[in-house]
Amino acid sequence: MARYRIAWLPGDGVGIDVLEAAQIVLERVGLDAEYVHGDIGWEFWCAEGDALPQRTLDLLGSVDAAMFGAITSKPMKTAAAELAPALRDKGLTYRSPIVRMRQLFDLYICLRPCKAYPGNALNFKEGIDLVVFRENTEDLYSGVEFAPVPKELAEVLGRLAKPFSPFAKLSGDQYAVSCKINTQRGSERIIRAAFDFARKFKRRKVTVVHKANVVRATDGLFLEAAKAIAKDYPEIAMDDANIDAMTMWLLKNPFNYDVLVAPNLYGDIISDLCAQMVGGLGFGCSGNIGEKLAVFEPTHGSAPKYAGQHKVNPIATILAVKMMLDWLGETARGVALEAAVAKVIRDGKVKTYDMGGSSTTLDMGKAVAAAL
Ligand code: IPM
Ligand code: MG
Repeated sequence: MARYRIAWLPGDGVGIDVLEAAQIVLERVGLDAEYVHGDIGWEFWCAEGDALPQRTLDLLGSVDAAMFGAITSKPMKTAAAELAPALRDKGLTYRSPIVRMRQLFDLYICLRPCKAYPGNALNFKEGIDLVVFRENTEDLYSGVEFAPVPKELAEVLGRLAKPFSPFAKLSGDQYAVSCKINTQRGSERIIRAAFDFARKFKRRKVTVVHKANVVRATDGLFLEAAKAIAKDYPEIAMDDANIDAMTMWLLKNPFNYDVLVAPNLYGDIISDLCAQMVGGLGFGCSGNIGEKLAVFEPTHGSAPKYAGQHKVNPIATILAVKMMLDWLGETARGVALEAAVAKVIRDGKVKTYDMGGSSTTLDMGKAVAAAL
């Protein structure tokens, strides 16, 4: 029996292309693993009313880790219209499968390292090396949302919150409510994960990203939790910044930052910015990490217009494979894979379209495999 069991979830769109490249690399890495395909993606929404079927959840419950490609999401009305006729008007609602995976398996850490590999012409500046820790299960992603807003909810809000008065006169179909829910435990564990990482890898600073000057309750809780936890890590500096200012400061002085930790939505935003600073979404890798399971993916989406063309850059996915190797404890293999990626970038011979070249997704996979 193989040492590891890995769920293999290409999804749809370019998710399929980039996982093909990842497969070429993994064959070369020689990990003692069994890769088990899992159904996930738009076609399963259309045919079964569920983009993440129960059989795939069962698979995820039985593996050491998963590699995930990408999935197409469409707005509510389009999603409903593309359902198989027998499934229409049954009240089925589409929810992002990756968000569901994060919540169902409590993958509370979203880890997004953003490193400028030397010689990448797309680097915003050489030497950038940022690591984002994004809380991955709560905040504005809690899924607690109302449109229209039920009367009972409006009554309670009217009673308990003075600032609700301008909204109290509206009928429920004239507004919508999305709840931002942040727990003490959820905040503490992501902040601790960021500090533990900083300690382990001798990083100098953790920056807490928030908007506590306005969003006082939830972000206030997050910031206070961070200040308390920082005391347990005296050798690591801590500072904090509002999300808006942070986007400015990061561009102005990227070298002032090191490890960033943020609630879910701010982490989503800031990690796209950081990815762009090291070459764009073709270079942004992501790990959704829990205590028992971790799902690795490129940060980019399914880019349907490029689907099946083997055009997009698989480096983000290959770096996600590297993260998976690290998480499995296969550190030497992870180090070798990262060195191979860095070499291909430095050599500059194989470049996908985003890098100004015409190499295909699979050319890039083969080049990294050859450099291993
Ligand atoms: C990401 C993506 C997802 C998110 C989408 C696809 C639901 O933007 O992983 O950053 O918002 O978390
Ligand atoms: Mg995102």
